[in-house]
Amino acid sequence: MKKHLIIGNPINHSLSPKIHNYWFKKNKIEAVYEKKKPTLEEIEKIIQDLKNEKVYGMNVTVPFKQEVIKYLDDLSPLAKKTNSVNTIFNKDGRTFGDNTDIAGFELSILDLKLSLKNKTAIIFGAGGVVPSIIVALQNLGVREINIMNRTSEKIKKIQLNFPFINEVKWGDLGNHDIYINATSVGLNKEDDLNLNIQNLEKGKLFYDIIYNPPMTKFLEKAKKYEHQILNGEKMFLYQAQKAFELWHDILPKIDDSLINYLKDD
Ligand code: ATR
Repeated sequence: MKKHLIIGNPINHSLSPKIHNYWFKKNKIEAVYEKKKPTLEEIEKIIQDLKNEKVYGMNVTVPFKQEVIKYLDDLSPLAKKTNSVNTIFNKDGRTFGDNTDIAGFELSILDLKLSLKNKTAIIFGAGGVVPSIIVALQNLGVREINIMNRTSEKIKKIQLNFPFINEVKWGDLGNHDIYINATSVGLNKEDDLNLNIQNLEKGKLFYDIIYNPPMTKFLEKAKKYEHQILNGEKMFLYQAQKAFELWHDILPKIDDSLINYLKDD
């Protein structure tokens, strides 16, 4: 029985066990997928278990995507570039960290059949997921990437690796093609970034990487002012699909029956 694990804190809300266990069954793979909220000390031991083949595959979520790096033998170029690992496996006896969040974000946009080539983007927030979004936006051909964050120092840190990023003053929404909420504001349904979007031209894309709740205040307001909206569900589905492929060399299906099954909680 191949054991898989997601680590994070909090971890109770995670749908990763549900999606991967569903795919194991569909693809007749003898495996289980569990979740764990480890202490910092336990993380090293879990990765050792992966090296010793007691654990077959791992996902990592907030706040450990950077923390795990120091325990890993090797990183993919994308994990290195973003300093962020969400998928781990044993590659020829060595622990290998990869990043499938980038592909997750990219594929979610491609699904919209919307070209971001030469467009401009603004990201709200400067947390651990932001470098992955930046790389995805670059891959999609975005011409200009701006970041707005409550704490300016965090943007400065991102600029060390991505010097072409523009820092924007809090509240200065400018005129961009895509507005991305990458803050944790909205995880509680009632919380709102309180941005003044009423004067923006209509028809922008508002993307909230939060998928639970599915409709945040950020998206609710954007819809009201006639913008296109997208929540983090597709990004979640595609990062999971890519992780599954890395572990098992099979691209599992994302279809309506899976999406309905995940909703059915
Ligand atoms: P991660 O673990 O992904 O790095 P994080 O560092 O907690 O997560 O990042 C969460 C993001 O949400 C940060 O950009 C944070 O802003 P700060 O860097 O100023 O802390 C942002 N955030 C959280 N609460 C916020 C709030 N009430 N208003 C605005 N931004 C907020």
